[in-house]
Amino acid sequence: MRVLVIGSGAREHAILLALAQDPAVTALACAPGNAGTAALAEQRGVEARDGAAVAKLAADWGADLVVIGPEVPLVAGVADAVRAAGIACFGPGAEAARIEGSKSFAKDVMAAAGVATAASLIVDTPADLDIALARFAPPYVVKDDGLAAGKGVVVTEDLDAARAHACGLLDSGHPVLLETYLDGPEVSLFCLVDGALVVPLLPAQDFKRVGDGDSGPNTGGMGAYAPLPWAPADLAETLVETIVGPVAAEMVRRGTPFSGLLYAGLALTSSGPQVVEFNCRFGDPETQAVLALLRTPLAGLLHATATGTLARQPPLEWEAGAAVTVVLAAEGYPGTPRLGDVVSGAEAEGVLHAGTRRRDDGAVVSAGGRVLSVVGTGPDLAAARADAYERLGRVHLAGAHHRTDIAAKAAEGLVTVPG
Ligand code: GLY
Repeated sequence: MRVLVIGSGAREHAILLALAQDPAVTALACAPGNAGTAALAEQRGVEARDGAAVAKLAADWGADLVVIGPEVPLVAGVADAVRAAGIACFGPGAEAARIEGSKSFAKDVMAAAGVATAASLIVDTPADLDIALARFAPPYVVKDDGLAAGKGVVVTEDLDAARAHACGLLDSGHPVLLETYLDGPEVSLFCLVDGALVVPLLPAQDFKRVGDGDSGPNTGGMGAYAPLPWAPADLAETLVETIVGPVAAEMVRRGTPFSGLLYAGLALTSSGPQVVEFNCRFGDPETQAVLALLRTPLAGLLHATATGTLARQPPLEWEAGAAVTVVLAAEGYPGTPRLGDVVSGAEAEGVLHAGTRRRDDGAVVSAGGRVLSVVGTGPDLAAARADAYERLGRVHLAGAHHRTDIAAKAAEGLVTVPG
């Protein structure tokens, strides 16, 4: 099977690494890729949001399967264009990708499916903002209704900060979603979805704030781990039964069945699991940890999902133990990152590239905010965490920063689900 992966992050590097281990895969290409994916796959240039260009690349290269990593091309309908060219594509079409592209659409689907989520209000104009904010108590949760690479969310006790963030979004023409705050540990559950059929992967947890102890602004994600030693053993099954299954069924009922990876971001609150958000693709950086533990060959799973034959796949198999991923970010991230610095030690095993490129002299240099992820594995979370940080210690980038507490509380048994 010839597989073309669209994207350029550590998530796509992790997907390529898993695909490369599948004996069914005969060739891999990545577009646009990064300095790390070039070691695993032929690199092609493409504007990932341009459906016609991606479909042409897939046809010219002879792809049997296209895997679209990021949300922006999915929301833009790139999967529709690839399928229209007669090529199997892993990822939802534009209509179904609205589950991530529009938070108000997702709320509507969840209401129809009877799925628990935070109470919310959409605000379209500054004139309505103060009345809407007055209906919420701190901490205020203020979100961009559309795509924002994880950085459109502000959670704050400070009403002025909430108002300022909302005003900034409205001034840029983006509707704002105000939500009640969901307390309790967060879970990322990735599910392969083929219409009404939902197959969960291992639950994971990610770390969205930039600093240790969940301090500082939100980012695209600074680290993750899987599985969740503190969670009930049947958590994935419960969440499929009560949340992801009903949402998948509602998408079928609407005539826009979901095909691809449906990512439920949840909070395990004292009143049960509630949805924080749905995403229409693999999450980053959780994918780096989850796929490190997947034993089932990935290409077969993704191809089966893309071709409506997921029901014929055997149950998923997983490695025992745990995986931890830690993100190394460039100075300035999640604001404007400093770019162009040499990254040394980046070609080691367990290092997955994101914002990197290879300079003409052969050096790997930083080319984005989240520069790379390291992945550690081990028989338990403490061992996986030690492995990840040891690998990270061998990577050097001037001015870089990372969190030092990824999976620390879970490894020490300090994460609890409110009763
Ligand atoms: N881990 C957050 C995201 O992928 O959106």
